[in-house]
Amino acid sequence: MEDWSHCLDVAVQIALRAGQAVQSAVKQEKQVSSKSTPTDLVTEADHQVEELIISTLREKYPSHRFIGEESSAAGVKCELRDDPTWIIDPIDGTCNFVHSFPMVAVSIGFAVKKELELGVIYHCFDGTLYTARKGHGAFCNGVRLQVSKEKDVSKALILTEIGAKRDPATLDIFLGNMKKMLSAPTHGVRIIGSSTLALCHIASGAAEAYYQYGLHCWDIAAAAVIIREAGGYVIDTTGGPLDLMSRRVVAAGTRQIADYVVKQLQPINYGRDDLT
Ligand code: IPD
Repeated sequence: MEDWSHCLDVAVQIALRAGQAVQSAVKQEKQVSSKSTPTDLVTEADHQVEELIISTLREKYPSHRFIGEESSAAGVKCELRDDPTWIIDPIDGTCNFVHSFPMVAVSIGFAVKKELELGVIYHCFDGTLYTARKGHGAFCNGVRLQVSKEKDVSKALILTEIGAKRDPATLDIFLGNMKKMLSAPTHGVRIIGSSTLALCHIASGAAEAYYQYGLHCWDIAAAAVIIREAGGYVIDTTGGPLDLMSRRVVAAGTRQIADYVVKQLQPINYGRDDLT
């Protein structure tokens, strides 16, 4: 079995550099445009930071493949093959970035033979660094992470994100799902505007579960390794194994809470990352 520890070190260095670029870009005027819907935002900085990450990684690992949020939006095929593949979200929480709302992250995941091997997520506003390598634990600024062991949903804090679709039918299902989570009753539901950072809160045990329809493989890849290495579950919204390209996920500290969330959810169809 190949040792990918050198890739983790490289990913950490690049995430820190990319994070610095995001930190200085947030203070400057932003050129904002939209992608799939008017609420799916992108800025010049998203493109520049993705270019910085991919060009640095490509120089180091010329044979590796890349899936990046902005390259995919520009038409590069989003396809996970057996080759070593980096899966990158240069600025997760672009809407937060536009508003200087302090929940913005750089996310770098890495897969080999379609298996997620490592993940690095850097919180650009507070400098928190989440890292994990398969079989070697998950860490936040070097301190080992452990998910919440809570099994009772009435004591759970649940996280979700809204997704880019805002048509009435989608919003009805979204709000219906949230109503079910609130009326369980749970302790509460939170939306912070960054899927990757929300997923890191599951890894750190600050919240018990996360669910979302409409996120992408670059929102899940790094975080899935971090949560699993912290002892948690990252699965499909049907309760089956995670399908990285399916644009839906449930994550939780315990299987009991994951199963509870799965049973409540009515699906929202966002299509697949590998079919667009
Ligand atoms: C988005 C954010 C948002 C979530 C979307 C993601 P982006 O990522 O994480 O909170 O609702 O599904 O795609 O576009 O800011 O990188």
